[in-house]
Amino acid sequence: MMQRYSRLSIFFHWLIALLIIVAFIVGSIMTDLSFSPFKLKVFSWHKWIGVTILGLVALRLITRLFKGAPPYPSTMPAWQKNAAHWTHVLLYVLMFAVPLSGYFYTLAAGYPVVYFGLFELPVLIPASPELKPILKLSHIVLTKVLAAAFFIHVAAALKHALIDKDGMFRRMLPTKSGETS
Ligand code: HEM
Repeated sequence: MMQRYSRLSIFFHWLIALLIIVAFIVGSIMTDLSFSPFKLKVFSWHKWIGVTILGLVALRLITRLFKGAPPYPSTMPAWQKNAAHWTHVLLYVLMFAVPLSGYFYTLAAGYPVVYFGLFELPVLIPASPELKPILKLSHIVLTKVLAAAFFIHVAAALKHALIDKDGMFRRMLPTKSGETS
């Protein structure tokens, strides 16, 4: 039977996927809301979810580096293995770059991030009218690149599940028994 991802990796994968989708949807609608206390609350939730993603992605990367990933099946052509590898690298880079750009944009705009209203996260840069538009544009552009990489990733996963039927998709699905191979 084909080797699977560890239970911890599977947990991080689906939790982070879900939170990214939520952060993306909230981010996309919040800027169009008319100014109100509700809008400020939604902005805060977007930031809190985004910072949570950042923390989870850091833990996930550590897990990935220590536990590795199961090898690709020998039936997979080399170009597909390369494409999969580099898409995964790109996804990791973006999963850091997107929340970090949002975080630094918020700081450059002069707002501290008070995580779930409980404690203030480090103010790593001072408010900066020069950096603010650059960081805002970076966050917006990076979210679009993340969305594109996300769709390529999902399309490839579905191809494995529905066309190739080579068991690749199941490697990332939770199992009741928690079997690892
Ligand atoms: C993976 C995590 C994140 C995702 C997927 C995400 C996604 C998005 C999206 C889709 C938008 C709308 C962009 C547009 O107008 O086209 C947005 C806007 C925004 N995000 Fe995020 N974001 C994330 C993390 C963060 C974090 C951590 C912060 C701050 C702590 C943040 C702060 C903002 C702000 C302030 C805006 C409004 C930009 C504006 O003024 O137009 N985001 N985000």
